[in-house]
Amino acid sequence: MPYSTLLVELRNSIALVTINRPDKLNALNAAVIRELGEVTALIAMDDSIRAAILTGAGPKAFVAGADISELGECDSARARVLSENGSLIFRRLELSHKPIVAAVNGFALGGGCELAMACHFRIASENARFGQPEVKLGIVPGYGGTVRLPRLVGRGRALELLMSGAMIDAQEAWRIGLVNRLVSADQLIPECEKVLRTILDNAPLAVAGCLQMVDKQEELTLDEALALESRRFGELAGTADFREGTGAFVAKRKAGFTGS
Ligand code: COA
Repeated sequence: MPYSTLLVELRNSIALVTINRPDKLNALNAAVIRELGEVTALIAMDDSIRAAILTGAGPKAFVAGADISELGECDSARARVLSENGSLIFRRLELSHKPIVAAVNGFALGGGCELAMACHFRIASENARFGQPEVKLGIVPGYGGTVRLPRLVGRGRALELLMSGAMIDAQEAWRIGLVNRLVSADQLIPECEKVLRTILDNAPLAVAGCLQMVDKQEELTLDEALALESRRFGELAGTADFREGTGAFVAKRKAGFTGS
């Protein structure tokens, strides 16, 4: 599928999705948001894609936020629709049954930080910078920043970042748990691929189960979440991959999973 703002490359069953507006620091305009929705659907439907990496073009930015020149044209009603639409697409990305990692290669501000947080986890280059500067523009984050940031880093740290609009460097983002690991810029994509390969060696239904369970538990009570986990545990113990995984362990050989 041709995209005007994204580069999509399939590398050995991992889709490398690059937001490609480097002259505007990959800011999220309507076309980028629409195409992120399209590529999210592609990742879900295309069986040759088993995982994805999301990154930004150029050495400077992952995504420097919503496109402020477009945003500035919005009245109240349009801004609300823009937020609802983007939020829905980010949520679809987050609900993917296939792992999606954000390779944060520079500024991840506003919608960029929110996009990274909607991915399943984040790996950053040492020059990455994070922040939610929306308060400086007179708005709150519109793509889930007030929702996902406290869940990731805790309420106090999130509120400080949200209310100050301050930028933090990669080291601080790693320290507070916003990113899983830091690597040099040239190692960013190889490191993401390495982590995803480790995940893809595992039973696909079990990997999807982890994604689903961790997402679901946030809307359930502790007891409901534990009950749901037991149910999924039982279901997966009925799969061919469970026989294969346990059999391979006993036979001291590498498991060959089929996703069934
Ligand atoms: N929306 C639209 N355009 C943006 C943008 C955004 N969020 N962020 C950067 N750009 C554009 C700049 O306008 C500039 O375009 P131009 O060359 O046509 O003038 C280009 O990208 C390069 O940005 P510039 O500001 O010159 O780079 P810098 O290194 O001096 O500063 C930032 C980098 C990220 C600190 C700065 O661009 C910035 O503060 N961006 C906005 C961040 C923000 O508030 N995001 C949240 C939006 S809700």
